[in-house]
Amino acid sequence: MKEPTGLLGWVDARFPLMSVWREHLAEYYTPKNFNFWYYFGSLALLVLVIQIVTGIFLTMYYKPDARFAFASVEFIMRDVDYGWLIRYMHSTGASMFFVVVYLHMLRGMLYGSYQKPRELIWLLGMAIFLCLMAEAFFGYLLPWGQMSYWGAQVIVSLIDALSPPLALWIRGDYVIADATLNRFFAFHVIALPLILVILVFLHIVALHAVGSNNPDGIEIKKYKDPNTGIPLDGIPFHPYYTVKDIMGTVGFLIVYFGIIFFAPEMDGYFLEDNNFIPADPMKTPPHIAPVWYFTPYYAILRAVPQKQLGVIAMGLAVGIFFLLPWLDRGRVKSIRYRGNLFKIALGLFLVSFVTLGYMGTQDPNLWYVNPVSRICALVYFSFFIFMPIYTKLDKTKPVPERVTG
Ligand code: HEM
Repeated sequence: MKEPTGLLGWVDARFPLMSVWREHLAEYYTPKNFNFWYYFGSLALLVLVIQIVTGIFLTMYYKPDARFAFASVEFIMRDVDYGWLIRYMHSTGASMFFVVVYLHMLRGMLYGSYQKPRELIWLLGMAIFLCLMAEAFFGYLLPWGQMSYWGAQVIVSLIDALSPPLALWIRGDYVIADATLNRFFAFHVIALPLILVILVFLHIVALHAVGSNNPDGIEIKKYKDPNTGIPLDGIPFHPYYTVKDIMGTVGFLIVYFGIIFFAPEMDGYFLEDNNFIPADPMKTPPHIAPVWYFTPYYAILRAVPQKQLGVIAMGLAVGIFFLLPWLDRGRVKSIRYRGNLFKIALGLFLVSFVTLGYMGTQDPNLWYVNPVSRICALVYFSFFIFMPIYTKLDKTKPVPERVTG
């Protein structure tokens, strides 16, 4: 590559611009067989940027005060130029963040991307996931609608079940109140986005240290051109995958703006009906449910009859993902070469996850909600608990030496 001249040359003499460009883009060799599933990392990055930019504009008009918060959101929706667009981009972005990140995690499970040597990428990913959940939870209180208020009330009461002083410290008051709104605002607008951005940076640094996995689960660094040292099955990230990611981005934006323009509330799944009513501490809504991305864990919480144990089960349901790299004893990475045991286990896990998600949205008094949630919670945990056994017993297929197209 030609040495830069002019302004670029001046900067490059004082800052590692070209070497970073080369090392992480133009000469960063990536497996040539990435498929659909590999869009979701770059899409998660895109959504992160969208959330930060739209969030900055919302903050210009939003008022973090229990007396004015609800009205300020209505003002954004009705009176601020394009305020409705910015707000719907942000609220739809929150749900799309979880769609993208869940698919990104599923890709990791399909292709064993958490296995050695990528354990740290996975752990950082899980730290991102926890932050994202906290970010969404704090953000949901800000419109100060009925669901904001009572949703926060339910979640903080869970913490109260484990440690009342901790719950008091989080609320800053004996009930969810103005002090709570102010601290949730601080966390939502600066503390967590900052941590998220740092964690995403570290996630990508860790990825670039070992290189990407791929749908075959083969290490491309094993076979290199003896003269150039370039992996034989690798292609430079730029321009090949920058262009491919533009394809993914366009597809994503069509869906994203389709939702924003035609179904921004998604029938109550993205923005709940009750949240268009101002928070009223004197009136509990008859049916409180979190937004869809939390409902699988909420269903697990409700499936356990005792409150403290329910909270612990819910925490474990998320936390157990951290252990995945060590629970999986499979000899192969990709599902393409795994045996039937893993395929069945993963299939059952996915069915239980989606069913739990649905059960979490339903009225717990319906006769089927508790029994179905309990069975699904058992399947959910069994996937992890028995993983060391079935992945070891599984009859795997031979893995090819080189990536297959
Ligand atoms: C804001 C959220 C996130 C962002 C922006 C992000 C970004 C990325 C990017 C850009 C890549 C490389 C492209 C790709 O492989 O798709 C990647 C890879 C990866 N991410 Fe994430 N990620 C996020 C969350 C997560 C989470 C929650 C997990 C899992 C718990 C995770 C696990 C992984 C793994 C294992 C890889 C390597 C995949 C492979 O090489 O096959 N990430 N991430």
